[in-house]
Amino acid sequence: MSTPVLEVSEELVARYRTRAPRYTSYPTAPQFGPLPEGAVAAALGRNDGPLSAYVHIPFCKSLCHYCGCHVEIHARRSVGAGYVDTVLAEADLVAARLQPGRQLDQLALGGGTPTFLEPDDMARLVDGLRARWPFTPTADISIEVDPRTIDAAYLDRLVDIGFGRYSFGVQDFDAAVLEAVHRAQPADLTLSAVRTLRERGNFDLNFDLMYGLPHQTPESFRTTLDVVVAMRPTRIALFLYAHVPWMKPAQKLVEKHGIPDAALRSRLFVLANEVLGAAGYETIGMDHFALPGDALLAAQASGTLQRNFMGYTTRAGLDQIGLGVSAIGSFGGVYAQDLKDREAWTARVTAGELPIERGFVLSADDTRRRSVIMELFCNFQVVLAPGEFPDERARLAPMLADGFVVLDADTVTVTPLGRHFIRNVCAVFDRYLEADAGARRYSHTA
Ligand SMILES: C[S@@+](CC[C@H](N)C(=O)[O-])C[C@H]1O[C@@H](n2cnc3c(N)ncnc32)[C@H](O)[C@@H]1O
Ligand code: SF4
Repeated sequence: MSTPVLEVSEELVARYRTRAPRYTSYPTAPQFGPLPEGAVAAALGRNDGPLSAYVHIPFCKSLCHYCGCHVEIHARRSVGAGYVDTVLAEADLVAARLQPGRQLDQLALGGGTPTFLEPDDMARLVDGLRARWPFTPTADISIEVDPRTIDAAYLDRLVDIGFGRYSFGVQDFDAAVLEAVHRAQPADLTLSAVRTLRERGNFDLNFDLMYGLPHQTPESFRTTLDVVVAMRPTRIALFLYAHVPWMKPAQKLVEKHGIPDAALRSRLFVLANEVLGAAGYETIGMDHFALPGDALLAAQASGTLQRNFMGYTTRAGLDQIGLGVSAIGSFGGVYAQDLKDREAWTARVTAGELPIERGFVLSADDTRRRSVIMELFCNFQVVLAPGEFPDERARLAPMLADGFVVLDADTVTVTPLGRHFIRNVCAVFDRYLEADAGARRYSHTA
């Protein structure tokens, strides 16, 4: 059953306007710094068992002005060939430090735009990874697809390569919204990609949607949502536009068109929940939806839903390897992020060194706080040990009074209203945020 989502008052939004991270990791990336010598190699060698890998492909043909991802704009796809060589060389460096015999239980290609690669380069990349780490029989192999970069032949190739889950960047179908953010993408493009894949097999399809973009109104967004549900993707990720122009200067171009205020954003979110709920979608965590039968829903029901840099996932506890510029890995109690600058990253790999720029070694306290924050984000409930986190319990008091959470003995439960403010609730357990106050800026939380 979907939980009803409540509209939030402007007064509440104003009062909780303090910005907070999205917690795809804890500690969050701004806390990352230099790693002690040998820490990454030691952490890579620490564990055994199946692996998860994320490969970052930074290239795009044109820049969507809202984009918060690490991207490079290129006219020619050929830039991808050398990049794939370097990713595979990086995989060798990683494999040499892992215990032998490890297999991939999950592979995700993201970006940027993975489908910017020439199909042959894509096949070389996946075959190369498979040669280093064979896939488990149940491996989840997924790719982010920009419908503007593919045709039926490319999709056929992706199916042959072995991708089972396809995530389409849709954002909105409204022409005025798309024009304001510099992304021309007629609905027909998405529809024909969906049809092609459906003819080829029973694949999991995800749509990325965004709310909080210029010119979005409840009417326009309802029309978009109606088109979306008619295409019946198995999953939908509904992202709140993260406006961080101090980090992504192109977003100032979005600002010019006027960004919906907090009240409108809230209305759009509630509307999406209503339309998707009426169409049979159930909510997952903060901002995902899925049709009954989806593995994420089963994971949510059994309390095993996880969250990582790839979003919500069913694969709990796997070491996560990051390959490619800016990619973040999480393994053996360490976060490690690759260099963002492609030249520097290439030079480091070519020199036979792991291209890690920065990271974090988690203490026992960090690990416990991470599990509390992730449980709240995924399952909206966490059980604390008796007497654990006394200061944090005290800091939850205003949120108890505002009806965001219920504290029953040692169990913290986030209410439907509190889901709007899940980032604020989690921030209570973030021991670095206070120390950081004023030094960092995050996007709006609702
Ligand atoms: C790497 S992109 C998607 C793949 C492909 N490049 C495309 O655009 O179709 C991943 C998703 O991140 C989301 N996204 C990008 N910038 C964002 C921002 N500033 N705030 C919230 N979501 C954002 C978009 O929904 C986008 O589809
Ligand atoms: S949204 Fe996708 S296509 Fe657009 S700039 Fe970002 S990564 Fe590239």
